[in-house]
Amino acid sequence: MSNELSALEGLRQTSLTRLEQSLDAFLPASSAASRLSQAMRYAALGGGKRIRPLLVYGATALAGGTPEQADTPAAAVELIHAYSLVHDDLPAMDDDDLRRGLPTCHKAYDEATAILAGDTLHTKAFELLATRGEYRSDTRIAMIQHLCQAAGVDGMAAGQMQDMLAQGQQQTLAALEEMHYLKTGRLITASLQLGYFAAQSDSPELLENLTRFGDAIGLAFQIQDDILDVTMATDQLGKPAGSDEKLHKSTFPSLIGLDASRERAEQLCEDARQALSGYGASALPLQQLAQYIIARNH
Ligand code: IPE
Ligand code: IPE
Ligand code: MG
Ligand code: MG
Ligand code: MG
Repeated sequence: MSNELSALEGLRQTSLTRLEQSLDAFLPASSAASRLSQAMRYAALGGGKRIRPLLVYGATALAGGTPEQADTPAAAVELIHAYSLVHDDLPAMDDDDLRRGLPTCHKAYDEATAILAGDTLHTKAFELLATRGEYRSDTRIAMIQHLCQAAGVDGMAAGQMQDMLAQGQQQTLAALEEMHYLKTGRLITASLQLGYFAAQSDSPELLENLTRFGDAIGLAFQIQDDILDVTMATDQLGKPAGSDEKLHKSTFPSLIGLDASRERAEQLCEDARQALSGYGASALPLQQLAQYIIARNH
């Protein structure tokens, strides 16, 4: 276990300073619309567990690439994630006031600014993938395509739409799983896929195994998020506890109970670990990250 823990710590150490520096550089403090730039920086910088960028760095390393190759897609997936959180917290969606221990973007600024900051974090992600770093053109296209598909009308946004439509209704477990897969799992799997593409290696089998790994931990991630919503306090979470109950959402704990939810998350984590079991010590950082995703307390 201590080997595994140090593998994840090693991944954090090689990745997270690079990520913060890229985000800082890619989001200028002033531009033609400086209020908007500030709101973008407020939403994206200096907070969050940075799990999706860690998945990018981990996948690039597993595919034989360098941290430098992972910098652009790591920043891009985090910008998409940050945009999704800004919009998710809006009054028209989950109507939450706290995020990462601070007032949500629409509380710190205002709703119009938060909507526009979400829009521009979104477009900035694709601008980075189109212009930054040293990649072959086919690599850029693959990264852009996979991120578009994961975030858009067949991915995260579709899951968020289902989440809104299902509010106040009891969903079936199958419908809930589909919604969780779309709203959270797709971006997590895309993080691994973009990390793979960034290394510019050619191993379709690794891509397939990273996809299996991502699909399993993506669902586990949202199950754990649902569990934390009912088991943790607001100051621990850095976002309002009980948000799902307040809006009468179906969640894993509300449909199958806490114990069965934890078992499901553990099984999915095991499935994820199996998907990368053939890669030995090189896969340890990602294996440990899978464990962290279901063991985290915020
Ligand atoms: C929260 O994601 C939103 C979900 C998809 C459940 P994270 O728990 O990764 O949020 P941060 O980035 O660490 O704040
Ligand atoms: C959000 O799910 C998933 C996104 C696509 C942002 P939640 O609404 O449960 O996320 P939190 O709990 O507010 O972070
Ligand atoms: Mg939500
Ligand atoms: Mg929410
Ligand atoms: Mg939640």
